[in-house]
Amino acid sequence: MKITIAIDGFSSCGKSTIAKALAQKLNYSYIDTGAMYRAVTVYALQNKLIDHSKKPNFEQLIAALPNIKVVFIFNPHTKTSETFLNGINVDREIRTMEVNEIVSKISSIKEVREKMVALQREMGKNKAVVLDGRDIGTNVFPDAELKIFMTADNLIRAQRRLDELRSKGDYHDVSEILQNLLKRDYDDMHRKENPLIKAKDAIILDNTDLSKEEQLEFVLKLIADMQLTKDQVE
Ligand code: DC
Repeated sequence: MKITIAIDGFSSCGKSTIAKALAQKLNYSYIDTGAMYRAVTVYALQNKLIDHSKKPNFEQLIAALPNIKVVFIFNPHTKTSETFLNGINVDREIRTMEVNEIVSKISSIKEVREKMVALQREMGKNKAVVLDGRDIGTNVFPDAELKIFMTADNLIRAQRRLDELRSKGDYHDVSEILQNLLKRDYDDMHRKENPLIKAKDAIILDNTDLSKEEQLEFVLKLIADMQLTKDQVE
């Protein structure tokens, strides 16, 4: 049975780590929907559609949407999908602190969301897919067979993001990162269009004290139990 797995939750909870591991284990595709909003943010920055107070020029960005093409291309060397914006690999550019600071604003724009959601539905239409984001289980694929809502302690999340940025030579202090995470969570939960909320049928995964292997085991057991229940019903 091929299913759709929706992983939603707060920023820097390790959603993509578990989503990638699951996709690899199950031989499913992985769609990092946050990367898509980040790529649009990179486009807005590159084309000077952000003013000095970090506010996007909504009208110009909406008008430019037909010119923004975001795709994922699998890199056989790194064994990961990389994000391309208009034919250029932007995998590095989408993870900077500058993008972190603006992406929530960009992702709150209705027209941006409509375009990204349509793309996500197209990419995931054949199932056998793991998507991570904020509105996958509530909006993009409300009928997903398995929905996980991830959360973790705030400081642990900030430390994880700090380590990720440091590994790329991008140095910040933990309080700056924490502030950005909390602000992003607040914006994501309070926006009008498809805010971050737990789907009623999502299963909570708090990974504060769990290793990657333990998380993977937790989700694989959920899938095995689903299969068992299905076999019993049929
Ligand atoms: O998962 P991430 O941190 O890479 O996501 C970047 C931003 O994109 C995040 O602040 C919220 C937004 N986002 C969204 O609104 N909907 C999604 N499905 C995924 C991400």
